[in-house]
Amino acid sequence: MDRSEPPPSTSPIVEAAWKTMPRAMQETVTRAPLIPEIAARAKAAAAAHPGFIRGDQGQVVDVLPEREVYYGPSSGLPELRSQVARLWTSLYSLGGLEGLPDGGLAAEHVAIASGATEGLAILLRLFAPGRCVGMQRLHWGNYRSIVKHAGGEPVVIRFFDEAGRLDLEGIAAEIETHAISTLIVNFPANPTGDCLSDLELQALVALARDHDLILIADEVYNWMRYEDTPRTLLGFAPERTIVVGAASKEYLIPGARTSWILSADEVFSNQWLPRLIRTTSSSPNVLGQNLALEMVGADVQDLEAGRPPRYLSSIRDELRRRRDLMAEVVRESGFTIVGRVANQTPPGGISLFARLPEGLDDDVEFNNRAIELGRFSAIPGTAFGAPGHIRFGYAGMTLESIHRMRTALSEVVEEVRRTT
Ligand SMILES: Cc1ncc(COP(=O)(O)O)c(C=O)c1O
Repeated sequence: MDRSEPPPSTSPIVEAAWKTMPRAMQETVTRAPLIPEIAARAKAAAAAHPGFIRGDQGQVVDVLPEREVYYGPSSGLPELRSQVARLWTSLYSLGGLEGLPDGGLAAEHVAIASGATEGLAILLRLFAPGRCVGMQRLHWGNYRSIVKHAGGEPVVIRFFDEAGRLDLEGIAAEIETHAISTLIVNFPANPTGDCLSDLELQALVALARDHDLILIADEVYNWMRYEDTPRTLLGFAPERTIVVGAASKEYLIPGARTSWILSADEVFSNQWLPRLIRTTSSSPNVLGQNLALEMVGADVQDLEAGRPPRYLSSIRDELRRRRDLMAEVVRESGFTIVGRVANQTPPGGISLFARLPEGLDDDVEFNNRAIELGRFSAIPGTAFGAPGHIRFGYAGMTLESIHRMRTALSEVVEEVRRTT
């Protein structure tokens, strides 16, 4: 294929990425790598011929056979890809939606990466070079670095007006001013836990279509939505949405470094992404994938039998209890919860973002004092570009420790007031 010609695909995802990615990446995504193809043939030959000697492998074998963990495919373990496709299809009723296959997603729509961080870094290397990339005002701090490392410019967009309504006109104005072609969308959001309703998702998608945007939907907290039914953007705009999900939050195993990138475009998910993942981690973490496979597989079994997914549901139920208690505790100590609607209990996510009580301003000092006094730790809002605020990660606390936070928080507030 002539490298200056886009590959044969009508998907806005492939077209936009092709226009933006560096030439070297165009080469990588369009050329099938030689070694995996030889490995596949060698594996088949070894199975067919008992005396076959494999000299193609770039790994040590048969020195400590019980301890050896081999590379997996760059696209991820086929069984995990297939289970994640079934999970997304069942959780979000994707089968038969316009723009998606009748039976919903298949393994070819899923690429496995080593954590959402790696997935996002790869996606932004395709969509960010030389471009402005939009993101919510309060966002996971790593987005900014990831966009900049990919040669792009992060642009912060206020998604909500003073009354907490989705500010479509404001978003459109920022998109036009900065010629934004890619938007990172993270709901439930870190750090606020904000969510979007179906109507708002539809409106955002209409805006994305009007401006020919690519939506990178960071859905790592998707099932942690406590007041209503979780949604995926993929069900609303399959032609322009790339979803990043992960075992890190929804399945509580961040150390497994296992995530999934989903798109309706098979060229993108099944060819381009594995070829790029091969250049960043060779293959995603095989041990982590096996762990994730056990949990995702059990949830898929439940869902397909018409039962609530055992892991996702029990995690969500417990986090809802922690969130409710934490919201009560911070309000009692004079904090004001911050999100799209002031002092609203966050409808999703794993953390709560709150303004320091009256008379206190220095979030970094407040957090330092809480640690020095041996009471608790949180994250100062400064880490999210919002001084004067504190992020409480209630998911990382037990109900018992949140009960103890009641006294700890008011005591630290009193102590900091006394000494400043
Ligand atoms: C919004 C968001 N996206 C992505 C990540 C990274 O997830 P992972 O641990 O799977 O790399 C985080 C981690 O805190 C996050 O908050």
